[in-house]
Amino acid sequence: MFVTVLLLLVTLCAQGGNGLERAEAQRSGHVSVVIVGGTGDLAKKYLWQGFFQLYVNQVRSGNSFSFYGGGLSPADAATPVLFEILKAVSCSKDVAPERCALLKEQFLRLARYRQLKTLEDYRDLAEHIERELQQEGMTEAGRLFYLSLPAFAYVDVADKINNSCRPTGGAWLRVVLEKPFGHDFRSAQELATQLGSSLKDEEMYRIDHYLGKQVVAKILPFRVENRKFLDPIWNKHHIERVEIVMKETLDVKGRISFYDQYGVIRDVLQNHLTEVMTLLTMRLPMNLSSSEEVLQKKLQVFSSMLPLRKNQAVVGQYQAYQTTVQQETNKTKGHVSLTPTFAAVLAHIDEAQYEGVPVLMISGKMLDERPSISSNPSGRKNSFISAENLLASWALWTPLLDSLAGSHPRIYPGGADNGDLLDIRVNGKDIGYNSEVVIISPEQMGGASANSFQVMQGKFRSADMVSAWAEELMERLAADIQEAAEAAVREGGVFHLAISGGSTPLALFHRLALHHFSFPWSHTHVWMVDERCVPLTDLESNFHGLHDHLLQHVRIPYFNIHPMPVQLNQRLCVEEDGGAPLYEKEISKSVNGSSFHFVLLGVGYDSHTASLFPGSKVGELGESLVALTESPVKPHQRMSLTFSAINRARAVALLVMGKGKHELITQLSRVKDDPDKWPVTGVKPADGRLVWYIDYDALLG
Ligand SMILES: *[C@@H]1O[C@H](CO)[C@@H](O)[C@H](O)[C@H]1NC(C)=O
Ligand SMILES: *[C@@H]1O[C@H](CO)[C@@H](O)[C@H](O)[C@H]1NC(C)=O
Ligand SMILES: *[C@@H]1O[C@H](CO)[C@@H](O)[C@H](O)[C@H]1NC(C)=O
Ligand SMILES: *[C@@H]1O[C@H](CO)[C@@H](O)[C@H](O)[C@H]1NC(C)=O
Repeated sequence: MFVTVLLLLVTLCAQGGNGLERAEAQRSGHVSVVIVGGTGDLAKKYLWQGFFQLYVNQVRSGNSFSFYGGGLSPADAATPVLFEILKAVSCSKDVAPERCALLKEQFLRLARYRQLKTLEDYRDLAEHIERELQQEGMTEAGRLFYLSLPAFAYVDVADKINNSCRPTGGAWLRVVLEKPFGHDFRSAQELATQLGSSLKDEEMYRIDHYLGKQVVAKILPFRVENRKFLDPIWNKHHIERVEIVMKETLDVKGRISFYDQYGVIRDVLQNHLTEVMTLLTMRLPMNLSSSEEVLQKKLQVFSSMLPLRKNQAVVGQYQAYQTTVQQETNKTKGHVSLTPTFAAVLAHIDEAQYEGVPVLMISGKMLDERPSISSNPSGRKNSFISAENLLASWALWTPLLDSLAGSHPRIYPGGADNGDLLDIRVNGKDIGYNSEVVIISPEQMGGASANSFQVMQGKFRSADMVSAWAEELMERLAADIQEAAEAAVREGGVFHLAISGGSTPLALFHRLALHHFSFPWSHTHVWMVDERCVPLTDLESNFHGLHDHLLQHVRIPYFNIHPMPVQLNQRLCVEEDGGAPLYEKEISKSVNGSSFHFVLLGVGYDSHTASLFPGSKVGELGESLVALTESPVKPHQRMSLTFSAINRARAVALLVMGKGKHELITQLSRVKDDPDKWPVTGVKPADGRLVWYIDYDALLG
């Protein structure tokens, strides 16, 4: 990042022919550099160091410089902050220490803080610059404003610059902006129009640091230099497909509030990968140094792109993303973000040259390889994006983004664990994940019960599976519970049922309540699989839900109901109060062999079951039957049955419903048992039977 910033600055400020060819002829003189947002994070980390380096490199050139850090705070408060930042700049190794000290001292003298809040502040700055020029008898070469600001502030600042801080007398004005430039075609167009009323196109420099990277900047020159060899093979007869891939191993912790609104397509595909795609496929310009011609050739690519449809994209999201969103944006546990952190998009260029050649653009976070594209100083011109190019790209991507809104991304674990989960398959003009759930074989379907043909039976994770539309599935599950209840009562006079909370089983509760006359409720004991550490009267309490939706409607003896003792001594889930061992004792005392007849479980998006969450070392709870656990979402504290308790049961039902769980089901059909990462894979009744109840929405998506 730093190297790229430096080069861009050199490009922007240097005089002579190696600057931007679109800049007017340059003259030597005084350059004023203004970093608006000069005490912010980016400025602190990279910009000032970049400008110092620039100063060191340029000090022997004809130009002289002054530097201003601008911000909203008054000067007396912000000046010390700026100087702390400036004191930290460093010289490269080849500069002798004494010379470095001298250069730093000069640089610090040339730099100062200015409050830049109102129009008057900008006017004062302009007057200050002009006064200094006059006093020193200098000519002005130009003014460079670097807007190190959130994008929403661009228009206002550009307007103030235009109104009161434009240089006069032929000196140049350059205003540097960084992406994001809008989040769809309309917002990008609006931003371009608004900026256009304050700044001329050639005064605006939209920086994309990625484009300064060596391999990207080299694409066109490479194609031109080798055109004799490449021209004959740069076509559909010799190119099977084009793949543009940017893999990142990092997650987006700390950037969620930005990232969650953008996602990988806006963050990477719409700009970086699209640019590479155009550089690879555009017709070569006759004159590589004519930015006009390069732009025209790029725009030609956009006009021959076929529209991107929904079937030409697959999206994914790494598993831990959901939790990070809830933590960083204070969203409630019910909030589900559909923002993709992985995307693969298949594009087609409607040109005879590339007919039938798939163009794949793939990028994601938390993938299993280092980024293959490294930062290097060689790129200049290509590091800036023109407004036309930007809008053409948004015009291509916006319809796809719209059509993907509301799609559920495939959840992937991250890193090497992804395995082949994100492998894709090109199918004519469409694209899909290579691995889909294939669970039901025709012979397994032969076992479908005669009484309800809508219900399928099959295998899932080598256990039995029942699948149907939601309503039939509930009916079937209720019938299975009743059958287990009747068998247990016949055998021993009592039925021990352990039930999970959450919203998934509500429909089941209603059905059980509806048919309560035939159910042996008076011989049934109801236990909790897990509980949130809130008072039982709280709306968030699992017991509260169970009571409201089921228990109060059926004739069950009061003393057959066993809520978890989360509240003891007027406090919630305190280890010393011994709530967990107390419940365990109650189970051991009442339930033969602590073996429930029937345990009903659900599965969360992160594959947690009961209140056993990924990464919480649920495998290490040993022989205890009940434990206090931690949830990543509020309320964090839980009490839960352990795998020891669950796996002693005679029958365990895992209920999974809704389209939103499809990706989870896909994933679960492929991962190995690993209860620390995929808690639900720890459900393995030792002597009992496990049955998955998965509705068609979850199974088939
Ligand atoms: C800048 O402001 C002036 C008025 O001060 C206006 O006439 C001009 O159109 C604006 N925009 C540009 C690009 O100069
Ligand atoms: C190529 O374009 C540049 C910039 O517009 C121009 O200066 C140069 O003369 C052009 N070269 C030729 C051979 O036309
Ligand atoms: C989330 O809540 C914490 C504590 O209440 C607060 O400090 C933080 O600013 C909040 N973050 C957001 C993004 O609202
Ligand atoms: C308790 O379970 C054991 C083993 O399943 C069984 O042999 C025994 O009869 C049961 N006792 C009662 C009282 O049901």
